[in-house]
Amino acid sequence: MRPPLDSGTVLIVGACSGLGREIARQLSLRAGTLVLVASEVGLLEALRAELEARNPTLGVILMACDISRPGEVGEVLAELARQFVAVDVLVNASATQGRALFAHQRWGDIERMLVGNVMTPLLLARRLLGQMLARGRGGILHIGSGAGQLFLPGAATAAATHRCLDGFLESLRLEVEGTGIVITQVAPGPIEDAAHGERARQGPRPFLGISAARCAREALAGFERGAALVYPGWGHRQVMRLLPRLPRAVRRVLGRLAMRDLRRLPGGELPRLAGSPRELPGSASTSA
Ligand SMILES: NC(=O)c1ccc[n+]([C@@H]2O[C@H](COP(=O)([O-])OP(=O)(O)OC[C@H]3O[C@@H](n4cnc5c(N)ncnc54)[C@H](OP(=O)(O)O)[C@@H]3O)[C@@H](O)[C@H]2O)c1
Repeated sequence: MRPPLDSGTVLIVGACSGLGREIARQLSLRAGTLVLVASEVGLLEALRAELEARNPTLGVILMACDISRPGEVGEVLAELARQFVAVDVLVNASATQGRALFAHQRWGDIERMLVGNVMTPLLLARRLLGQMLARGRGGILHIGSGAGQLFLPGAATAAATHRCLDGFLESLRLEVEGTGIVITQVAPGPIEDAAHGERARQGPRPFLGISAARCAREALAGFERGAALVYPGWGHRQVMRLLPRLPRAVRRVLGRLAMRDLRRLPGGELPRLAGSPRELPGSASTSA
């Protein structure tokens, strides 16, 4: 069973940069309509012009939505319903990022990450799955992260959200088996020209890094063959396949080495674990 990408309507959340933008580019000659979502419509205008130039018959709908606000996600779905747009394929390619030691992370940022990375993908799946089941075809392509399978100091909340989606997607995939709906999770490693453009601007090429274009290509190929889980890039794929075979204690040692590296970062980049945690719900100092 192949997901209905050809001539279908594909909703891409997180389309204005990185992997979402690449997926939009690679689908532009195949899809019938692309619904592109980012936090501001203005950020998507250049992409719309590029896609329409490539394929003048492509329908492009732009929508603004802060994915960390469920009300705005609901508004996007309501607007699509008003325009009689039926989504065939959902691509989740957005993620609320943030590197910080957990004890120093603002509670508001933790909440935004939980809502944006966990609640919103579940809400979108819950709202769109009914239509897909009724039509007997559809798909969800979720761009998660290899980070969900690591012990990752400095990104504990992000790792938690990716691990959470891993359980959700694998379970949902079993629930919809045989209904014509394809659910694929992609767990990339470092992307050279994505991640808010940070890696593209600074420092050396990341170890095992691949381009956003290659990652998108491998993600779409895996989705089309109905894969449950795709690790884009040969080197990253070998590492991710090896990791679960390592004893947990060894994986903790790797995490400890990563924490040691974090402590060496220039002052201020990641705060040290000193002093009292700030801004927790229920505490008098909560402000986030
Ligand atoms: N880049 C990497 O090295 C890497 C590695 C492993 C996994 N991944 C995963 O790949 C996925 C995409 O990452 P990326 O590197 O392509 O990211 P990116 O270049 O930063 O793009 C993220 C997209 O998400 C949107 N977005 C973020 N927060 C949003 C919000 N609150 N509301 C609406 N849109 C929001 C951004 O739009 P706005 O600019 O409008 O906010 C942007 O279009 C993520 O799940 C990430 O975890 C990335």
